[in-house]
Amino acid sequence: TEMGCLSLIVLGASGDLAKKKTFPALFNLFRQGFLQSNEVHIFGYARTKLSDDDLRERIRGYLSKGASSEDLEILSDFLKHIKYVSGGYDSAEGFLSLNKEISEHELAKNSYGSSRRLFYLALPPSVYPSVCKMIKSYCMNQAVPTGWTRIVVEKPFGKDLASAEELSAQLGELFDEPQLYRIDHYLGKELVQNLLVLRFANRFFLPLWNRDNIHNIQIVFREDFGTEGRGGYFDEYGIIRDIIQNHLLQVLCLVAMEKPVSLRPEHIRDEKVKVLQSVLPINNDEVVLGQYEGYKDDPTVSKDSNTPTFATIVLRIHNERWEGVPIIMKAGKALSSRKAEIRVQFKDVPGDIFRCKKQGRNEFVIRLQPKEAMYMKLTVKKPGLDMSTIQSELDLSYGQRYQDVPIPEAYERLILDTIRGDQQHFVRRDELRAAWEIFTPLLHDIDDGKMKPVPYKPGSRGPHEADELVAKTGYVQTHGYIWIPPTL
Ligand code: BG6
Repeated sequence: TEMGCLSLIVLGASGDLAKKKTFPALFNLFRQGFLQSNEVHIFGYARTKLSDDDLRERIRGYLSKGASSEDLEILSDFLKHIKYVSGGYDSAEGFLSLNKEISEHELAKNSYGSSRRLFYLALPPSVYPSVCKMIKSYCMNQAVPTGWTRIVVEKPFGKDLASAEELSAQLGELFDEPQLYRIDHYLGKELVQNLLVLRFANRFFLPLWNRDNIHNIQIVFREDFGTEGRGGYFDEYGIIRDIIQNHLLQVLCLVAMEKPVSLRPEHIRDEKVKVLQSVLPINNDEVVLGQYEGYKDDPTVSKDSNTPTFATIVLRIHNERWEGVPIIMKAGKALSSRKAEIRVQFKDVPGDIFRCKKQGRNEFVIRLQPKEAMYMKLTVKKPGLDMSTIQSELDLSYGQRYQDVPIPEAYERLILDTIRGDQQHFVRRDELRAAWEIFTPLLHDIDDGKMKPVPYKPGSRGPHEADELVAKTGYVQTHGYIWIPPTL
């Protein structure tokens, strides 16, 4: 492990992301001993005028909720490591004083030679270029070669291919790819990280994972709440940019890519790029868009908004493994439930003598959240004297199988990766480009009003047109069977 002083700089320290994700993740890492008390210092930076103590008290306010008395003590210790600098996102003066604070901390720690600086941009992307210029001009770690400066950026990385490429070029002029960490927090989820192991370390799956055996794949994200307070942001982006082009597509890469040469981050990301490049242009006839009723009541949403809050999109991968297998991406807000899962549906058994076809097909489901689980839906003989078949499951529910293992938050894991310098779970520039190439024509059709969302009731399954589209791809819904996650 690297030694020496570590400065974590949270830009946008008074914002929503910092509050909901960044500071809680940093605190959890600190609590578990991954951030060493004698090495780390955290700097919050934002425009709001605040004192160190103001920021600390704000953070205490939201981190102390539900904390044990032991954690409260650790929290007080954690807060001592936080400082605040206020300044504009294009202000030389602000970034000079930020640099001064960081340098003082490095000098005090007497570890100037091996210091590490991690800048976390919890900011709207419109200020990325100016902030990055400021960092590059005034805040770079001078301690080369042992020290480093790294930049963590959050989506949205652009709005379409052209704007994303422009942003990439701007950042690329300032920093090298190994310094840039594009976060997609779905890559930090336990069961997403499990996908490579599952696929490539199990003989079960190797021979089955292809068009000969798999009929279709669904990657599904549902939320049971609307845009709640984020209407202004969301209305500009919509569900495809918010969820599908990044989170679900990243999951798809890991589900569909070929086996990488090794586990080296570059090898893995090479394969992800290849499978993205094999995705055929989207056929608008295989797209259903929805917008929940009441979405436009939000005063920050435009009255004639054409923004989808729901989308079902069929992707087709043109390669030897997947030709002909519909890959159904589905995401929606304000639906009946909250869950994210990968559902792999197998083909019918040829020459079926049991006539169990009507009951449903074999499915392998990976539930990313809530209640992480993997289960295989299969046909068994109905126990008892009957000689009939029923649908049952082989079930690996994490809560039951790994009772004492707390599952880390995605952000915790990913921030730790950035400190360790592991880019495996971050999006590479060419990957981002390939992802935008897939969705940009459709997004432009929506922006131009050529494609329109159909209304759906909040709290429903979404528009029925989506179910019809999925049925048309040949997906067979199982009736009379639901898997109920076991409770402890
Ligand atoms: C974010 C989206 O990236 O992911 C949000 O901007 C969404 O709209 C969130 O709610 C979902 O993340 P998770 O981890 O709760 O599934």
